[in-house]
Amino acid sequence: MLNSAATQRQPWVIGNWKMNGGLSDNETLLSDLLALLESHGGRPIARCAVAVPAPYLFQTMVRLSGHPIGWGAQDVSAEAAGAFTGEVAVSMLQDFEAQFSLVGHSERRSRHGETDALVAAKALALLQQGLTPVVCVGESLQERDQGRALTFVCDQVRQAAQPLHAQGVLADAAFAYEPIWAIGTGRSASPEQAQEVHAAIRRTLAEIDASAAEQIRLLYGGSVKAATAAGLAAQQDVDGALVGGASLNAREFFDIACAMSDC
Ligand code: PGA
Repeated sequence: MLNSAATQRQPWVIGNWKMNGGLSDNETLLSDLLALLESHGGRPIARCAVAVPAPYLFQTMVRLSGHPIGWGAQDVSAEAAGAFTGEVAVSMLQDFEAQFSLVGHSERRSRHGETDALVAAKALALLQQGLTPVVCVGESLQERDQGRALTFVCDQVRQAAQPLHAQGVLADAAFAYEPIWAIGTGRSASPEQAQEVHAAIRRTLAEIDASAAEQIRLLYGGSVKAATAAGLAAQQDVDGALVGGASLNAREFFDIACAMSDC
């Protein structure tokens, strides 16, 4: 049973496809997912969405319009337009009716050198156009082993949240706690480990804006499976999941959404 605070924040379950998929595979995955949701008979379920590679936003929009699954991107430029080769602007996501984008995923921070300042700028660009940024944060195994997980993650949160608060848009952001050691490794954080960090993130947000902190969804990500989702969802400050590998399987993703909704 979801606790009352979490119930007020209807859970979100977002599938992060990463650099996977293709026109034909996407069609199968989305059709299977829609069929599962329809067979579910409209009973309350976590709000599901998929974060797809940018070239497939058009396909996703066409396939999902009018259905109860949202869609968004995995990254976005902080710039509005111009000489930024390879980048995708918020306005371009809007052309395909994307509702959100991930920002600051650890794979982008580590492989593309994204800084906290850039992540905050991307989040702000999204919010100023009415899209939700899902700001990803998370510590490495080294930081955890050194006992610095909470300090590290809360600092990442502060760096993103303060500029958003300064512009009055913090309450509309979402955060995803994704410990790097749990991403793609099959080794999820335990519900207790997730709760400890999520509670610290919410405290950090509350120091900046108490009412926004109550409203902001904190998703957990890192090897989430149907078998582990309910344990995570039962935690007071876990408001859903950001699902990588398991989101490429319609049944598994749907089962995670159900487990997150206690249905
Ligand atoms: P994973 O990825 O579920 O495959 O661990 C999660 C993520 O990186 O968003």
